[in-house]
Amino acid sequence: MTVTIVGSQLGDEGKGGVVDLYGDAVDVVARYQGGDNAGHTVVHDGEKYKLSLVPSGAVRGKVGVLGNGCVVNPETLFDEIDTLRDRDLEPDVRVAERAHVILPYHRALDGIEEDEKEDLAAGTTGRGIGPTYEDKAGRRGVRVGDLLDPDVLRERLEYVVPQKRALAEDVFDKRTGEEFDVEHLYETYREYGERLANEGMVVDCGTFLQERIDAGENVMLEGAQGTSIDIDHGIYPYVTSSNPTAGGASVGTGLGPTVVGQGEVIGIVKAYLSRVGTGPLPTELGGVEGQTPDYDPEEGSDDEEEQLATYIRDEGGEYGTVTGRPRRVGWLDMPMLRHAARANGFTGLAINHIDVLAGLEEVNVGHAYEFDGEEILTMPATTEKWGRCEATFRSFDGWPAVDWESVAEDGYDAIPENARTYLEYVAAELEAPIYAVGVGPGREETVVVENPYSNN
Ligand code: IMP
Repeated sequence: MTVTIVGSQLGDEGKGGVVDLYGDAVDVVARYQGGDNAGHTVVHDGEKYKLSLVPSGAVRGKVGVLGNGCVVNPETLFDEIDTLRDRDLEPDVRVAERAHVILPYHRALDGIEEDEKEDLAAGTTGRGIGPTYEDKAGRRGVRVGDLLDPDVLRERLEYVVPQKRALAEDVFDKRTGEEFDVEHLYETYREYGERLANEGMVVDCGTFLQERIDAGENVMLEGAQGTSIDIDHGIYPYVTSSNPTAGGASVGTGLGPTVVGQGEVIGIVKAYLSRVGTGPLPTELGGVEGQTPDYDPEEGSDDEEEQLATYIRDEGGEYGTVTGRPRRVGWLDMPMLRHAARANGFTGLAINHIDVLAGLEEVNVGHAYEFDGEEILTMPATTEKWGRCEATFRSFDGWPAVDWESVAEDGYDAIPENARTYLEYVAAELEAPIYAVGVGPGREETVVVENPYSNN
């Protein structure tokens, strides 16, 4: 069977912890979109591993697959694999032949275009994600399979690279170097192709996964980022360029939607909100310079909201794994979650980081929005409208900090009562049961209510 893991907010909901938690029963973990913009830290046998592309399950001896919906930077891929090998692990990573390759000019253009866009900039991770998906849709991309066929690789590069160089030089008035040089790219990427072939890493993803499912193995489909930065269902244009929503799990792996739909779809929810990047955020507390629109740090520096934001940011370690940027934080946004529950069809929820909010006198939730004088319960379809929404809050009594490790051992009823009230409100609003509750960053600090792999 498959279990699909989806971020229900803006990314960084703690998906890695849940992937890890259910991972023991899993044979194969496949990522279905995104690239090395998705930072995750894995702790295994007391060792910390920072990864951005290799699926975390690969650290634990599972097969990790990068699906056809992913964009793959071979340099990052091999760096991560080599680092893991240096630390005596033998990760088994497969890459879809149909996945698109991030080339150095994609990264260069990501930076150039972000600078140019000013207010429309998404605050990208600068990894070349958007430009690579653009080329995929424009039918001028280079796919993993092309790296293994030198003639095809040369033909693709000879077509696309002069266009990219002209874009950088003539449109954006930039000087270009070897990242826009056909010969250099051909030699470098042909070598990556040889290594991929020699190590037997390239697979026809859908067939590979279906065979494992038919053999009775457990497959996990892991989304990166989150629903509100999905290119179709998110806060366009402040989004990533792929589909983290559950539909992406089918398109991005080659498994049929009926196969994915027969399994479970678990929404990962952070008990508050955090965001790297620009655009509106109706439940935001305080602000972050360079990311919060019209934010003036001088004005806000002493106020209570700002202090609360700093407290949550520090307690929750809300700094980007890939970029180290401080994240914007806010109260839980229920319209955002209702939108996610519908778009993904969650069969269960994992709610993380309730420990981060412990010790606050009261915990607020953006229950609805007021939009042009009306109450609405879900997100409007344009970001401009979303920016005009004012959150209307519900207040919950806070809960104390307790020994969360023993709570995780003792189970759901050991969670402080006020926190359970909060959790049950979320589950009722989203009409989906709670499968797990994250009470701390460690692997053991999760209360497991249901294990989807043992439901079968
Ligand atoms: P890109 O994916 O690098 O193109 O960035 C586009 C938007 O998605 C930016 O606002 C990023 O901050 C955001 N983003 C990309 N990856 C992640 C992630 O893993 N977590 C949270 N935000 C992300």
